[in-house]
Amino acid sequence: MNETVEKINQLKKQKNAVILAHNYQLPEVQDIADYLGDSLDLSMRAKNTDADIIVFCGVHFMAETAYILSKKLVLLPDITSGCPLADMITKNDVLELKKKYPGVPIVGYINTSAEVKSEIDYCCTSANAVEIVSKIPSDKVIFVPDKYLGSFVKRKVKDKEIILWDGYCPTHLKILDEDIKKLKKKYPLAKVVVHPECNLAVQELADEVCGTSGMIKYVKNNPQVKTFIIGTEVGMCYRLKKLFPEQEFIPASELAVCPNMKKNTLGKILFSLEEEQPQVVVDEEILKKAYKCIERMYTLMGIQ
Ligand code: 13P
Repeated sequence: MNETVEKINQLKKQKNAVILAHNYQLPEVQDIADYLGDSLDLSMRAKNTDADIIVFCGVHFMAETAYILSKKLVLLPDITSGCPLADMITKNDVLELKKKYPGVPIVGYINTSAEVKSEIDYCCTSANAVEIVSKIPSDKVIFVPDKYLGSFVKRKVKDKEIILWDGYCPTHLKILDEDIKKLKKKYPLAKVVVHPECNLAVQELADEVCGTSGMIKYVKNNPQVKTFIIGTEVGMCYRLKKLFPEQEFIPASELAVCPNMKKNTLGKILFSLEEEQPQVVVDEEILKKAYKCIERMYTLMGIQ
């Protein structure tokens, strides 16, 4: 075993730490994680962990969510791993929306800052956005910040008026409809599975549109399919190949690399465990309000 990995494992035991990693992390980071998952899975792992320290291998809003739910010591190995989509809406933008649409509930993708979560009504992830929006007791809702996920929800939840925000994920927009068309020609028997953060032309060419945990379920339910074209961040193909070694996973675009997700390296993970830095904390007042918005998501899902 590599010396860095050995030291990480020793420190993890010694300090009662757990490593949570998102499906988009580097292969070597995925390999050492205690739990790998999508943003919803990881939030629940953080909420229910017995560990004293959470090393969160993902991006900043995910580590903030882990802190809000666990109040444990949360380390983000590279503190600069942000999310341009989350940065596309601020607390002031939300306050303006509230003035413009008084009384209309605001649903925010988990890809938002804790400050934004503290001002919105409900949280959701790509795995449950349709469920959450359809269960909100209002016939009009505002969905922020991803307009493509919001449009996907709009197509599924026909009985509500959904107001969208103009945000997007630059990494998912690297995937083009031409990429899918080319790959479909090359692999005519392949199934196309894409993330709802992809643009609408890409979504229209897909056999399935779902978040990363939905992709795992889709492949599991289709053992007869040998090849899948995967329209999301490239790290997901490594995750799928490890779970389903007999099947083939082709990234829809090699350019769909999230530079922030790739910032957490083994070296930085070791450093963060040694030094117990960099820590992610959320101001107590913001935390209380943001917790409520995440809790409302779990309540609508029937989770305590
Ligand atoms: P999920 O973790 O919900 O699958 O989505 C990942 C993502 O695209 C984060 O930006």
